[in-house]
Amino acid sequence: MSAQRACSASELEMDTPLRVELDGVAIAIVRDSNDEIHAIGDRCTHGDISLSEGFVEGETLECWAHGSRFSLITGQPLNLPAYEPVPVYVVQIDGDDVLIDPTVLKEV
Ligand code: FES
Repeated sequence: MSAQRACSASELEMDTPLRVELDGVAIAIVRDSNDEIHAIGDRCTHGDISLSEGFVEGETLECWAHGSRFSLITGQPLNLPAYEPVPVYVVQIDGDDVLIDPTVLKEV
């Protein structure tokens, strides 16, 4: 499989996650305050909660349900109750297109 268009970069508001589904895989795309674009699995590993409904702070995305914060860089939870990481996807930018292959995880 190859990278496919997930959204346009210009529609990503800073610190406002966007949920997309690629081949049935839910992904939260975030433009952080450093203007970096990240893509992580959009399901908290503590419960069936969409992380894209959470809060961005720096390079983290916080689950609104119980407050676990996940690194947008590594996918690792930084505090309990979640203790398992979420997947992190490779993001490619082509013009205004954000491209992601939902089968390719970033090496962290
Ligand atoms: S469901 Fe996300 S921290 Fe509990």
